[in-house]
Amino acid sequence: MRFVFITTILITLGGIKSASAQTQKGEATAVKNQIISSTVISNGKKIYQQYCLTCHMADGAGVPNMNPPLVKTTRVLGDKAKLIRVILKGLNTGEEIDGETYTNVMPPHNFLNDQQIADVLTFVRNSFGNKATKVTEAEVKAVRNKKTE
Ligand code: HEC
Repeated sequence: MRFVFITTILITLGGIKSASAQTQKGEATAVKNQIISSTVISNGKKIYQQYCLTCHMADGAGVPNMNPPLVKTTRVLGDKAKLIRVILKGLNTGEEIDGETYTNVMPPHNFLNDQQIADVLTFVRNSFGNKATKVTEAEVKAVRNKKTE
């Protein structure tokens, strides 16, 4: 009985693992095949220069101990909903970001509209050596409209 139980857990875990490997593979294919219009990148760049550059710098490298770099960090390349939330709500947890802490505060940028946030994040996710799927206006809208965290 116990053996059956453990086997079931192992099979379940195996299933979860291969599902997440598949998601990663799917994401990699999506990144390779995606088409991002130059308009989105140039609009995103303008928003970045106006609202983000002062803290995160022109090359996205940030300022040591003050503002984090936006280069290949877990959050920049990872889950889009979490990334969108940083722009809408700001960030002031002082928590470690990939092993470093930052003293400055990231102010909320919820005054930007959904398209502007989508464009600036698509720009960030595909600049400074980053390569990740684009962020759409609908994805930003969904996060903005979500009542609970
Ligand atoms: C006033 C300075 C400031 C401005 C302006 C600013 N940020 Fe930030 N940003 C920060 C700080 C500081 C953090 C880290 C906060 C913390 O550690 O609690 C941060 C965190 C982030 C993160 C999370 C990084 C990670 O890897 O976890 C992203 C993404 C980000 N900012 C993007 C942007 C974008 C895009 C803009 C422009 C729309 C912007 N920031 C504007 C200071 C700023």
